[in-house]
Parts: sequence; structure tokens; C-alpha cells
Amino acid sequence: MNNRLCEMFGIDVPIFAFSHCRDVVVEVSRAGGMGVLGMARMSPRRLREELRWIDAHIDGRPYGIDVLMPSTYSEAGELKFDMERLVPHEHVEFVRGLLDAAGIPPLPQEERDEIVHNLLSELSFTPAESMAMVDIAMEHPIKLIVNALGSPPPALVEAAHARGIKVAAMAGKAKHAQRHRDRGCDFVIAVGGEAGGHTGTISSMVLWPEIVDAVAPLPVLGAGGVARGRQVAAALALGCEGVWCGSVWLPSAQSELMPEIKQRLIEASAEDSVHTRAVTGKPCRTLRSAFTDAYERPGAPTPLPAPLQNLLWWAEGRTRVERVRAREWLTYPVGQVVGSLTATSSVRDIVYGMMEELLGARERLNDMFD
Ligand SMILES: Cc1cc2nc3c(=O)[nH]c(=O)nc-3n(C[C@H](O)[C@H](O)[C@H](O)COP(=O)(O)O)c2cc1C
Repeated sequence: MNNRLCEMFGIDVPIFAFSHCRDVVVEVSRAGGMGVLGMARMSPRRLREELRWIDAHIDGRPYGIDVLMPSTYSEAGELKFDMERLVPHEHVEFVRGLLDAAGIPPLPQEERDEIVHNLLSELSFTPAESMAMVDIAMEHPIKLIVNALGSPPPALVEAAHARGIKVAAMAGKAKHAQRHRDRGCDFVIAVGGEAGGHTGTISSMVLWPEIVDAVAPLPVLGAGGVARGRQVAAALALGCEGVWCGSVWLPSAQSELMPEIKQRLIEASAEDSVHTRAVTGKPCRTLRSAFTDAYERPGAPTPLPAPLQNLLWWAEGRTRVERVRAREWLTYPVGQVVGSLTATSSVRDIVYGMMEELLGARERLNDMFD
């Protein structure tokens, strides 16, 4: 294929893959697309390791990074030291009570403290910390930086452009996309409400053309609900110049998810992707589980704001649940396309499958106009 985004990065197909898993990033880029590594929850040391590994395996193909540059956490530096105090006791007790009642063994206090400590040391809370991570990434041959939360700060755009690195940001509303354009983004990612992870409520079908028109002539990637070629065709038909996918890679052979979660994803239907604050404190599409259900019941506490709810789930919930592989309690961010993820195939097969179906869609459309 050939369009502005293919030219921008020298890629064969405008399929962009968001993943926290380095193997997925490498495989998508090697298959002709563009892998983008999610850096959330990485310590500086781990980030260096992951990027060195990518550089050694990606055959010189382009790749990017995705950074959580949290404008809303900017005052939160001191949370690092006060977290125990800031997570109210009744919330901890609620989660403990749920898991105790389900017979899921508790964590020894010492281990829990260690998990909290490690988690906090891996999270970048302030723009300065996030920028330090970006500085590490810029020592590597990255070609793209995507900002996940809000518009990228001018310092980031300037530093990236000075090195020939492109910058993009995610938008769930047209006005956010326009702000990204005004900040100097090279393209915008329009994320529909069916997407996995943090998302708004406007569906891709409505949002994509709205954003394409709002920021024209800036290129736009369509995200949210893309797992197959006909969905790529829809994004292109609606004016996008490519797609950005996250959920589709989760059950792939290269994904590092535990087999039990992959199996749950494969068995799930579209309705099992629920929009909830229970896991991170922000509206997030995730796999329905006994944990997310518990927050829907009358009398359940209102989830804490981010990042406290995330810490609560991670330190008290997730580790306990995953340790004993308590199937019904396992959850993971995933979008509505979860209903069509049917088998564990390789990332390369997924990319080629998408392209094949896209070409089929093009032919079918052409035939209609003969
Ligand atoms: C498991 C998972 C984790 C995610 N984490 C992030 C993240 O850290 N940063 C980010 O920009 N987007 C994140 N996202 C959202 C993706 O970037 C992307 O917008 C979304 O997956 C696209 O919709 P889809 O899931 O229907 O493909 C995540 C998505 C998933 C599925």
C-alpha cells in the first residue's frame, strides 16, 4: 500500500500495533506494519532492556513508543510516599472481603508491601518522570512517540522533531484531536468507544470521519474495533489513512499473556468487554470478571480516582487472582472485538489475514460499481 503514513515510516501497510509486549512490536514491524511499545509500568531499567532487545530483533524495521504523559497526575508526585494513607481502608477491605469469600489466598503483608513498592517505582507520575523515560527511548532508533493521555507537551514535540521522530496522540473527541494538531502532532489516532483500554463513549463509526474532517489535512489513524480486514476497509473508507489496533494481538502466539487469560479472551463475546472504572479508576474497557461484576452490585464502593484504584486492583487483587489462576476473576483490558478473537495465531498471520480480507473487500466494492 502507499499513502502518507506508509511514506512517513517506510512501512508496507498502515497497520499500527499497540502492545506492551516487545515480541508483538517486533513481529508487526517485521510483517510490514508498525509496532509501538506501550511503556506504561516500566522502570527505566526495564525500558532500556526492552528497547535493546527490540533493536536486536527488528531487522532495522521502524517502531515507536507509547508514553503515558499524565497531565492530570501532575500534582501527584507525593502520592509515591503517601499511597498507603491515600487508599482508604474500606476500599482495601472491600477487595479483600471479595477475594477471601471466593477462597483466593491472601498475600503476606511483606509481599504486598513489596508489590506496592515495586509498582510505585515503575509508574511515572509526573511529566518530568515521563520525559525522563522518553529521553531513554530517544537514545534508540525510535521513529514515533505516541502520547496516551492528552496533548503532548511542547518540550516533547520539540525534542522529538529535532531528532526526526514523529509525534502522535490519541483522541476520543474532535476537539481533543484539534488540540493535538495545534500542539504539532504529525497525525492523530481517533479512538472509538469500542476500543480496549481507556476510552470515551463515541463509537468509531461516528468518531473517525468527525476527526478526519476536524483536523484535515492531517492524517488520522482509526482505532477501536479493528481486528480484521473489513474493519480496516471501513477505516479507510471513512477517511482514515490506517489503523491502530490493541486487542487483536492479545491472544496471539507472541503475546506474553498467561494462557488462562488468552483462553478467557478467546471464549468471550463482545458483551464481555465492559466499560468500567473498577480496574484503573478511569473509564476503561476490560474483560468482564467477578471483580468487575462486584463493582456493579448495589452497595459496592465507587472506584477510587486513578491511579489509586489501579494500585488497589494491582496490589491487592490482581496478584492474588493471577497467582492461583482464579479463572472467573481474571481480567485484562480488551475491546469489543474480543468477540471475534477466536484462536491463537501468529502476529504475522494476523497482519497478512487483515491484508487479505482488506483486498477482498476492495474487490467486492469494485464489483458493485461495474
Ligand atoms: C491491553 C491493553 C492495554 C492498553 N494500554 C494502553 C496504554 O498503556 N497506552 C495507550 O495509549 N493505549 C493503551 N491501550 C489502548 C490502545 O492503544 C488502543 O487504543 C486500543 O486497543 C484500540 O482499540 P482495540 O482494542 O479495539 O484494537 C491499551 C489497549 C489494550 C487492549
